[in-house]
Amino acid sequence: MSVIVVIAESSPFTGRLRRIAKQEVVGLRPSFSEHGLNSMLSRLNQISLVVITEDVPLEDVPDLADTVLDNAPEVPIVMVRDKADVVPEEAKAAGVWEVLDSSASDLDIERLLTRFHEEIEAEVVAPVEPPVLEAKPLDQGQHRVIVVVSPKGGVGKTTTAINLAVALSHRAPLQTVVVDYDAQFGDVASMLNVSPKHTIDEAFGDNAVHTNLVVKGLMSTFDRRLLVLPGSESPAAMEKVSSPQAAQLIRQLSEDYSYVVVDTGSGLTDEALAALEVATDVVFVTTMDVSAVKALRRSADLLDRLELLPANRSLIVNMADPGTGLTTEDIGAAMRMPVDATIPRSTEVVLSVNVGKPLAQAKSSSPFMAAIDLIVRKVAGEEKRSRGGLFRRFS
Ligand SMILES: Nc1ncnc2c1ncn2[C@@H]1O[C@H](COP(=O)(O)OP(=O)(O)OP(=O)(O)O)[C@@H](O)[C@H]1O
Ligand SMILES: [Mg+2]
Repeated sequence: MSVIVVIAESSPFTGRLRRIAKQEVVGLRPSFSEHGLNSMLSRLNQISLVVITEDVPLEDVPDLADTVLDNAPEVPIVMVRDKADVVPEEAKAAGVWEVLDSSASDLDIERLLTRFHEEIEAEVVAPVEPPVLEAKPLDQGQHRVIVVVSPKGGVGKTTTAINLAVALSHRAPLQTVVVDYDAQFGDVASMLNVSPKHTIDEAFGDNAVHTNLVVKGLMSTFDRRLLVLPGSESPAAMEKVSSPQAAQLIRQLSEDYSYVVVDTGSGLTDEALAALEVATDVVFVTTMDVSAVKALRRSADLLDRLELLPANRSLIVNMADPGTGLTTEDIGAAMRMPVDATIPRSTEVVLSVNVGKPLAQAKSSSPFMAAIDLIVRKVAGEEKRSRGGLFRRFS
């Protein structure tokens, strides 16, 4: 599905377009550096129309249009202006097709969108995608179950889990599964922009787990490589599932699939603990604030006492902001394990989630992807797997 990009400071036009357009509308700020704008535009799938709103100074339009056309040659660019009836010469020269009056009615906007949409659809020939080559499956003894954990909500667990899964699926197409074990607010499918026909609760019968063949039928596919076991829409749906059943599903999947990535809800939920029973790897995610680090430390201690801490552990500090008073070293010391990667807060990450296109799919180079690559290499045994030797039980 193509997207409409609106370049605006704070014009109400963005909201109007979101309301009227049947496509996704992505808003970008003109004040981003050219590099930032470039990187965002290059991440957007198919762009069908770019709208530059009336609050963007006219003198900035030619440069913006240039940046747009570098990324999406021939995309129609429309400018919104107060009292506009002609396209200024410089804007026309820069590639602006037409000017829309800022007082245009919803109907005018709808007509414009339909017109451009039809023109673009007529031109687009569906690209022929190369077949996905199946990789040789890992020996069963090498299969990995990676559980992404954090006691605090909103720290980036799901973002990490889906990107890790997408990256692993490039190594092991159709042998990588991402499991949504956030029973309350599971959003793996929506972050991947997948519309599931089935959800994970259907994998469980009365006191039993359906066979892998049945479970496979419940999975959606992302990018023809990654299998997705989506969370249920209803938080109550997983209540019928016992902890042994929840562990059994992951155990069963790990028999057939090389990589099973499990996203969990915040806190040490029953599903998270069940997955950890089977896990080979755990990825802890925290933000850079004292309460998040303390909570993670307590969770790690508890897992250690419960003997649920897998031998291979990674620690990601996400949305790192300088000036919080905490340093990466402080966090490593508090967690008594090294920080594997520090990811700055970045609009690139937010945008990739908003448009359902994980950074790992675009194979971009960014601090976020560097962190994901590192975890992938650790999981695959190419990087020294830190065994968190400072934890009591493993020291
Ligand atoms: N490095 C980052 N920079 C900026 N935004 C980020 C970054 N990582 C994640 N986010 C954003 O933070 C929000 C929360 O991320 P995410 O849903 O992955 O967290 P979570 O830990 O899974 O949350 P929950 O506990 O609700 O499941 C999302 O909007 C995501 O786009
Ligand atoms: Mg989440």
